[in-house]
Amino acid sequence: MFHSEESKQQLNPLLPGYSFNLYLVAGTTPIIENGPLDFTIDRPHGMKGYIINMTVRGEGRIFDGTDAFDCKPGDILLFSPDTPHYYGRAPGSPDWYHRWVYFRPRGYWANWLKWPNQTRGVGRLRLPDPTLVTEFDELFQQIDRTHRGARRTSEELAINLLERLLIRAFEETPENLPTPLDPRIQATCQFIAKNLAEDVSLDDIARHVCLSPSRLAHLFREQMGMNILRWREDQRITLAKQLLLSTRTPVSTVAGKVGYDDQLYFSRVFRKRVGVSPSGFRKASEEARHPYGELHLHSQGEHIQAMVAGEDARR
Ligand code: FCB
Repeated sequence: MFHSEESKQQLNPLLPGYSFNLYLVAGTTPIIENGPLDFTIDRPHGMKGYIINMTVRGEGRIFDGTDAFDCKPGDILLFSPDTPHYYGRAPGSPDWYHRWVYFRPRGYWANWLKWPNQTRGVGRLRLPDPTLVTEFDELFQQIDRTHRGARRTSEELAINLLERLLIRAFEETPENLPTPLDPRIQATCQFIAKNLAEDVSLDDIARHVCLSPSRLAHLFREQMGMNILRWREDQRITLAKQLLLSTRTPVSTVAGKVGYDDQLYFSRVFRKRVGVSPSGFRKASEEARHPYGELHLHSQGEHIQAMVAGEDARR
């Protein structure tokens, strides 16, 4: 392998010196022990764009010294821009095949590019089962094939597939999964929702889910990010809004149906939460649904008449 000026011009992205001056470049690097590609990929200043790669055969070694780690089939790595690249076939493995995509991201991808398990700017995701490995492997290949296709939109389509790959990687990252709700908190929410109009106390709820009131209060806040009474108030106001929108039930009855005996108190809470009184909310939503209601038409008519009159006067 030579690294002269001449090699800087070369057009094979698998060899040193390729410029990567594009928005997307994709490929597969088949490294075999003592083969022509069996060297360390060494880019001390990293690259301008990101690299995502996936091992499909054998093992690779990333970095050296204490930061070194190996990757095996089903491991996906994301190199951030300007992160040093230093990797190759793992010593002891007869080969290392990896698929990769170099890309300059779209602005709105930022959220999918923050990978939680990082070593020196390299994020890691290990796919847990063979079905997923096949799915991602196919995506990598599709990106490459699509990008090489002779369509006018080949690059856009390849970027589109890459976006899918990043979103799927985001979904498959365990840290990004929403933590499932504790079953006792689920039961609490169901119990409250079923008894919205009743005046159940924290003690009643706690008894229902077999927790002490203080343990329940603590766990609820931890999982739901707010206290129980606040959560119930939210549910009550949401239901009240639905009733005001979809029925002609008087406000006092709505108040009772969502658990407030005192209409004045209900209106106060409603206004605090929604910004308008219950009747104001009903009126505003009716007007929004019938923007050309009678009143409005009437004033429009007057406006038109005035315009016509004005024109007449000018003639
Ligand atoms: C190739 C490497 C591959 C990746 C791309 C950008 O030469 O084999 O791992 O770094 O460049």
